[in-house]
Amino acid sequence: MSDINEDLIREVVKQVLSESKSQVDEPETKSFNSNGKKRIFAFSIRKDEEPYVKEWAKAHPEIEVGYTDELLTEKTAKYAKDANGVVVYQQLSYTAETLQALADLGITKMSLRNVGVDNIDLDKAKALGFEITNVPVYSPNAIAEHAAIQTARVLRQTKVLDEKIENGDLRWAPTIGREVRDQTVGVIGTGHIGRVYMQIMEGFGAKVIAFDTYQNPELKQKGYYVDTLDELYAKSDVISLHVPATKDNTHMINSNSISKMKDDVVLVNCSRGALVDTDAVIKALDSGKIFGFVMDTYEDEVGIFNADWRHKDFPDKRLENLIHRSNVLVTPHTAFYTTHAVRNMVLKAFDNNCNLINNKPADTPVAY
Ligand SMILES: NC(=O)c1ccc[n+]([C@@H]2O[C@H](COP(=O)([O-])OP(=O)(O)OC[C@H]3O[C@@H](n4cnc5c(N)ncnc54)[C@H](O)[C@@H]3O)[C@@H](O)[C@H]2O)c1
Repeated sequence: MSDINEDLIREVVKQVLSESKSQVDEPETKSFNSNGKKRIFAFSIRKDEEPYVKEWAKAHPEIEVGYTDELLTEKTAKYAKDANGVVVYQQLSYTAETLQALADLGITKMSLRNVGVDNIDLDKAKALGFEITNVPVYSPNAIAEHAAIQTARVLRQTKVLDEKIENGDLRWAPTIGREVRDQTVGVIGTGHIGRVYMQIMEGFGAKVIAFDTYQNPELKQKGYYVDTLDELYAKSDVISLHVPATKDNTHMINSNSISKMKDDVVLVNCSRGALVDTDAVIKALDSGKIFGFVMDTYEDEVGIFNADWRHKDFPDKRLENLIHRSNVLVTPHTAFYTTHAVRNMVLKAFDNNCNLINNKPADTPVAY
């Protein structure tokens, strides 16, 4: 599950880093459980992660835990001095120099709190003998729940209703809802997240069908799968994407695939922006073919999502247009962002690192 938008955060983090270079010489670090025990040091701990670092430290008095809110760079690596391993999460690259700086301190055990390893210089890591772990699954429910909630909101036209109520218009018509149990929900991708989404939609009483290039035996036995995407497009009132973006499925939702869908279809993308040709969706929203669109990920989100545009010119007219439509629900790649998910990312990364520094097998090693 490679996925809080790693590219996007990398951009934001680069800016923050360039603004905070002056702090590098004066480390602001905190630590627990000192006394010559084994030590784990964590970088770029956000405020919302801090309680879970403390929770882990409290449960592991045998390990000394230290952390900083600063990113791991060639210069900040020194904060981890005397540590046996590091816990990290950043979009900024783990360059050869950064890895070398850790190795110079004798640290080659690194545990990511996230999934993706594409920003690590893996050749250098290999040459230095790094052992790396990640957290591939932290809370499928976070994303599935968000997708399900937004699906139901589109069907009940809650954005239209909220706008009407705010303006003092308390009439019912014409804002009539569609019940989830009357929908056939087509799920593309039946991995960790897609499966939870299926359960939630079934809980509402929907008929669920699915397509995946790999068919899960249990789901297959229960008869969920259709044989082709075209069949799923033709039969579904709601279509929700839960597949990774690859070069083969870029813009899999395009004018051609939309033309195969039912009229008044609801489209849900809480997966990856690149899966959807946004212009084609806008055309279909304009023509009324698409009833509503849930968009937690956007193909041009890097540098736009997770930033405050309140007192600046909004940088993307197309996105602005979508945000202002009453049948489009835009969220800035926040489906994953729950206390449960963040807690799991922190605790699992520390568990992994603890195993590594004690020469035990970690739950989720990165094979590279
Ligand atoms: N919005 C968010 O905050 C957020 C957070 C985490 C993950 N995600 C996205 O959710 C996606 C799904 O995550 P997951 O943990 O369920 O992944 P997963 O690996 O458990 O499941 C993905 C499924 O997609 C299937 N698949 C791959 N390519 C396919 C294709 N072209 N057609 C049909 N099926 C295909 C795989 O066989 C697999 O069953 C991730 O890839 C990521 O893009 C979004």
